[in-house]
Amino acid sequence: MSRFAERMKTMEKSAKIIRNLFGAMNDPDLISFGGGAPAKEALPIDIVREITNEVMRTDKRGVEALQYGNVMGLLDLREVVVSELLAPKGVKAKADNILITSGGLEGMNLLCQLFIDPGDVILVESPTFVHCVEIFEMFQAKCIGVDMDNDGMIPEDLEAKIMKYKPKMVYVIPTFQNPSGRTLSLERRKRVAELGSKYDVIILEDDPYRDIRYSGVDLKPIKAFDETGHTVLANSFSKIFSPGSRLGYVFASDEVTTKLFDAKTATNSHTSMLPQVICAEFFKRGYYPAHHKMICDLYRERRDTMIECIDAFFPKGTKRTFPDGGLFTWAELPGGINTTDLLVEATSNPNVKVAYVAGEGFFVEGGGKGNNCMRLSFGAVAPEKIKIGAKNLGDLISSKLKE
Ligand SMILES: Cc1ncc(COP(=O)(O)O)c(C=O)c1O
Repeated sequence: MSRFAERMKTMEKSAKIIRNLFGAMNDPDLISFGGGAPAKEALPIDIVREITNEVMRTDKRGVEALQYGNVMGLLDLREVVVSELLAPKGVKAKADNILITSGGLEGMNLLCQLFIDPGDVILVESPTFVHCVEIFEMFQAKCIGVDMDNDGMIPEDLEAKIMKYKPKMVYVIPTFQNPSGRTLSLERRKRVAELGSKYDVIILEDDPYRDIRYSGVDLKPIKAFDETGHTVLANSFSKIFSPGSRLGYVFASDEVTTKLFDAKTATNSHTSMLPQVICAEFFKRGYYPAHHKMICDLYRERRDTMIECIDAFFPKGTKRTFPDGGLFTWAELPGGINTTDLLVEATSNPNVKVAYVAGEGFFVEGGGKGNNCMRLSFGAVAPEKIKIGAKNLGDLISSKLKE
């Protein structure tokens, strides 16, 4: 066998966590609070069929959908991003500065291609989204955690670590964070943008859950406070339209956009045209507002059920977050219970049969940090199943405390 590249070694640990996560998603007998997929009821299947029937014709958009396209993406989809997704959030953008990507993750990948050399430091929230750590490590970056509290990343710790480690990039998931469900406060959003400018560091703002807010007050993205072009906003259509379509976008300054164009050309020429055409039509034909309301109502009910069940069935001393949107809550267990060990029993014991993601893997620090925590994803589980799963899991945890 030929020798694998060095980068495959660097990402071994994070890649293993991701593989296990996808494995757990595929067992039909489990109630899975594990994956981060949207609910199947949240996929606009009938609308997509209707649009496809209409536009996939030679005299409509059929040729465009199946032909090579523009590196930056379909112009009308980029205009939708500007007018329907960014302007209402207080972000002024031009379509020229929007690059359509293959899923949100490609944005992170391209940004690394632009900025990361082996050995560069990337500061990430502690805990953070493992899949992006996997990407960062593939570029042989060193990830260092920044402390969080209930208002997100702590700016004092961020500034101290910027001064100490001289990072190339800071990776932030400001809204309904994966995995913790926490949201960066308005004050801190301003401060993070300022720190990027002050220390000449790229702030990579990854905000795929922002649009599924179902309680609380909307907050402007960090990008809205960026005066120097140091913040780059990466986003995804996965949670508001469809993850299988693999659509996302990046909004960046002119200078960064030019380089993104080159990196995208070199990587895969452009994002698939067929999903771009359908997604653009979905927004332009006015389907989004009603669809958005439907998914927010659906997830609010699931969030409420999950929170009520944790409070009712998990043992005293459990701490949990209350997300105002998104798909996750985060629980910290009492009594030194190790959630990695517990997961084996939770998934295999026929009286439990529940999956979640153990907390430890979300911390780049290692050393057992977060080993009493778990991420609970409620988005893809119907309320009746949330009740059963949370009760089974709560009972298992309580039984461990008595041992
Ligand atoms: C924080 C975060 N960023 C990016 C993504 C990836 O989005 P996509 O599926 O569009 O690549 C996800 C998906 O779960 C996510 O949670």
